[in-house]
Amino acid sequence: MWHYLAVEGVDGAGKTTVAAAIVSALEAEGREVVAVREPGGTATGEAIRRILLHSDDSVAAWAEALLFAASRAQLAAEVVAPALARGAVVVSDRTVYSSLAYQGGARGLGIGRVRDVNEAGLQGIWPDRVLLLEVDAAAGLAREDAADRISVEGVALQSRVAEAYAAMAAEDPVRFVVVDASRPIEVVVAECVAGLVRR
Ligand code: TYD
Repeated sequence: MWHYLAVEGVDGAGKTTVAAAIVSALEAEGREVVAVREPGGTATGEAIRRILLHSDDSVAAWAEALLFAASRAQLAAEVVAPALARGAVVVSDRTVYSSLAYQGGARGLGIGRVRDVNEAGLQGIWPDRVLLLEVDAAAGLAREDAADRISVEGVALQSRVAEAYAAMAAEDPVRFVVVDASRPIEVVVAECVAGLVRR
């Protein structure tokens, strides 16, 4: 059984719905579950989130990568590490793998370099299972309800994100669980719960 689950995918893949269903299924089994989202999840992280997603000010690519990493380092120290230490499971709507795909892959900063700065901030706190919801980038964007500073950049960026995720999944098949999320959401949810909770 995993302890720290990353729910990942392009914008509009259905991560939030799937994460909520996994949390309910685990709670029904009597597990203590801590649900978080990135960027955010702490007071400092939510302040950083406003800069990253809802500010009109310019944010350079490395500033963006480092702000995501900063929000994540705070979340790891304040919430994730203590939860794991007391035996809870953590379900996270996005994690470091979003930074590897968006900033490292899609923005071209380099997956290895983005991984390095995040590792510095995370001090060993790292998802041990990654649920990747795969959906066509354009279909995902069309399904998304609220646009943010990154999703408004459109389908070209999301396609590069999808490619980066797929490459990471191919390289790390033990950690990644890949699910076809282009199907109806009930089907996707059922498959994710079956694969991750009732193994
Ligand atoms: P999120 O709130 O998950 O939006 P959505 O529900 O639409 O997927 O994420 C906000 C945006 O931030 C999304 O476009 C992905 C992006 N993002 C990164 O680029 N890097 C990161 O490390 C994270 C966590 C998110």
